[in-house]
Amino acid sequence: MSSAQSTLKKVTTNTLLKMKARNEKIAMLTAYDFSFAKMIDAAGIDVILVGDSASNVMAGHETTLPITLDQMIYHGQSVVRGVNRALVVVDMPFGSYQSNSSIALASAIRIMKETGAHAIKLEGGEEIIESVESIVKAGIPVMGHLGLTPQSIYQFGTYATRATNKTEADKIQNDLQLLQKAGCFAVVVEKIPALLTKQLSESVYIPIIGIGAGPYCDGQVLVMHDMLGINTEFKPRFLRQYLNLNEQITTAIQQYSSDVKTGSFPNQSESY
Ligand code: KIV
Repeated sequence: MSSAQSTLKKVTTNTLLKMKARNEKIAMLTAYDFSFAKMIDAAGIDVILVGDSASNVMAGHETTLPITLDQMIYHGQSVVRGVNRALVVVDMPFGSYQSNSSIALASAIRIMKETGAHAIKLEGGEEIIESVESIVKAGIPVMGHLGLTPQSIYQFGTYATRATNKTEADKIQNDLQLLQKAGCFAVVVEKIPALLTKQLSESVYIPIIGIGAGPYCDGQVLVMHDMLGINTEFKPRFLRQYLNLNEQITTAIQQYSSDVKTGSFPNQSESY
């Protein structure tokens, strides 16, 4: 082990709780493979989420529903191999936890055993609370996910902002309390009004990580392909695009193709 590795302070669930207590923001980003996970970790991101958004950005599906537990485990294994410091959280895919708490626990155990990740994330509140309790009881850290939960997209029928009415806002408040009581170490809230997020964050000691949930969160998460501009078709108001990798990669590949066709690649110094 190098001295840099031995002095590296790994991010744990405890680190995140302390960050919230100190008012220090948590930066979270998705990753799905070894090479990007390595860069994201080296850049200092605190939490790497192996999101089931892999179903969209890696596999090209329209929703997150088709991705399987085996596929999430494959992505989780690849990411874990690239990470030294960040906390790695793997999403439990649709169908791997909704039916009952025994199936949920078995799926969570497979993820932890086979990927080497540090935590799992699942979507929902009251409906899945028994599963959260049994996973936490097994010693597995659980991150919750409320608001726009993409695995329920066909029930919502739209990707519009959630909890804009009192009934749904009250349900999220209640679900958050239940998730904290069940032992979740953090909760993602997706696409809900900023002032609701503020109330949520102030009502719990666990960190609230937002995506499209405004500035009053304890941290933010984005999908890597969206913020790097790899996926340019998805442009919601909440997204800040830091690069236009799609354009840069396309230009580089066009240049390579042209170099091959004109015979300028490889040249003498690139040959043996
Ligand atoms: O799958 C995912 O990428 C997520 C984030 C949007 C939070 O759950």
